Amino acid sequence: MTDTTTAAAEPKAHAKYTRNNPYLSEVLVNDRLTGLDSEKETIHIELALEEGMTYTPGDAVGICPTNREAAVEDVLKALNFTGSERVLDHYKKEISLDEALRSHLGIGKLARGSLNQFAKLCGDNPPATLKALLGTENKAHAEEYVWGREFIDLVTEFPGIITEPQQLFNILQRLTPRMYSIASSQAAHPTQVHTTVRVVRYNAHARDRQGICSGHLGERSPAGSTMPIFLHENNAFRLPEDPSAPIIMIGPGTGIAPFRAFLEERQANGDKGDNWLFFGEQRSYSDYLYKDQFLAMEKDGLLTRLHTAFSRDQGKKVYVQDRMQENCDELYAWLERGAYFYVCGDATRMAKDVEMALLDVIAKGSHGTLENAAEYLAAMKKQKRYQRDVY
Ligand SMILES: Cc1cc2nc3c(=O)[nH]c(=O)nc-3n(C[C@H](O)[C@H](O)[C@H](O)COP(=O)(O)OP(=O)(O)OC[C@H]3O[C@@H](n4cnc5c(N)ncnc54)[C@H](O)[C@@H]3O)c2cc1C
Ligand SMILES: NC(=O)c1ccc[n+]([C@@H]2O[C@H](COP(=O)([O-])OP(=O)(O)OC[C@H]3O[C@@H](n4cnc5c(N)ncnc54)[C@H](OP(=O)(O)O)[C@@H]3O)[C@@H](O)[C@H]2O)c1
Repeated sequence: MTDTTTAAAEPKAHAKYTRNNPYLSEVLVNDRLTGLDSEKETIHIELALEEGMTYTPGDAVGICPTNREAAVEDVLKALNFTGSERVLDHYKKEISLDEALRSHLGIGKLARGSLNQFAKLCGDNPPATLKALLGTENKAHAEEYVWGREFIDLVTEFPGIITEPQQLFNILQRLTPRMYSIASSQAAHPTQVHTTVRVVRYNAHARDRQGICSGHLGERSPAGSTMPIFLHENNAFRLPEDPSAPIIMIGPGTGIAPFRAFLEERQANGDKGDNWLFFGEQRSYSDYLYKDQFLAMEKDGLLTRLHTAFSRDQGKKVYVQDRMQENCDELYAWLERGAYFYVCGDATRMAKDVEMALLDVIAKGSHGTLENAAEYLAAMKKQKRYQRDVY
């Protein structure tokens, strides 16, 4: 199994458009999928492709965001710069400081490395509170400090240290594109690529914050606007070559995205393999992403089995792995029939818990031990029948 956190970072072979030369795509659709009373804002984005731009379900789309105007202004104000100062970008091309802060520098979440670079400007005498965040011995303290903080917090707390606009290029990381699992099949939408994006918003250290790219998509990318994008190949997350092979898909939250693509692909091709989807979110009435489409797929037989786990619809949390356990015998029977097992979404907890549940299902189904189940899963991985796209 290859986790695609890194694999998805492979450039698409021979692609005309890349992260350094993105395609300026028109946003065709930007719709909210979650209800207004949801705790989450998850959106469906459709982007236009130029002829010749191709992708396969399982691939990702890279989106190049810019920083918010207000965030740029806050930084300029805190540093006493106007924005018209001239600086050299990462390729030594002269641009305005305003442009650098808008499109080239990551002024969002603070990186720990930025603290060390920032402190270098203080010579031998950094302020004591800054000194306490430096070096390997203070790593944990520095991690705690940067959590929920952005560059603006650092320069507000330690004013007067940055004196030259060019210094920002040593302190700040590059503003990088973000990856999103593709949620569409090109067999169904030849000139479009779709994604499912959770808009990251939170309040930390008394400021309202938002994720740079998801915030850009959520707030400043209406239909008709443009976004620079590129396609990223991910050969580690693919439908079976045999269209009649059964597939089991575990996709809570935005993890649903590639499975919409898989299902649309199988539907468009008339593939005969059985399809089983497990989807989980907080509440059925506000968070059932692509509900109508999946129910229609179930009705017309494309989705052989559809299970949902709405964690907050009842007192006790119910997750996708609980539904797997409830359907243990059938799940094992599918695996014995050669089913491919796919997981997409949260890497930190969900993917690990789902793997534990899968091992348990295999052990119970085969009347064996967890050790035997681990061997069974290892064989599935070898046959590329256990694939994950987790982030
Ligand atoms: C292969 C791959 C596929 C992906 N697919 C999808 C997808 O289909 N849909 C999707 O929505 N995302 C997906 N992601 C995640 C996506 O790439 C971005 O990481 C995500 O949208 C956040 O980016 P951002 O620029 O909005 O936020 P950033 O500006 O990068 O900020 C996010 C950071 O904010 C901080 N943060 C977040 N919440 C809090 C909090 N409550 N308190 C303090 N700090 C906080 C954390 O440090 C977090 O890492 C995928 C990632 C990969 C690698
Ligand atoms: N880097 C970023 O800032 C960023 C931005 C966007 C998305 N993401 C990541 O993208 C992934 C998807 O996010 P999302 O908001 O769409 O969905 P999510 O957080 O994965 O939540 C989807 C469903 O999964 C449930 N869940 C929580 N813990 C679980 C577990 N251990 N096992 C199984 N299910 C579990 C949730 O329940 P409860 O909530 O009720 O517990 C909810 O019902 C997550 O990794 C998220 O962190 C990251």
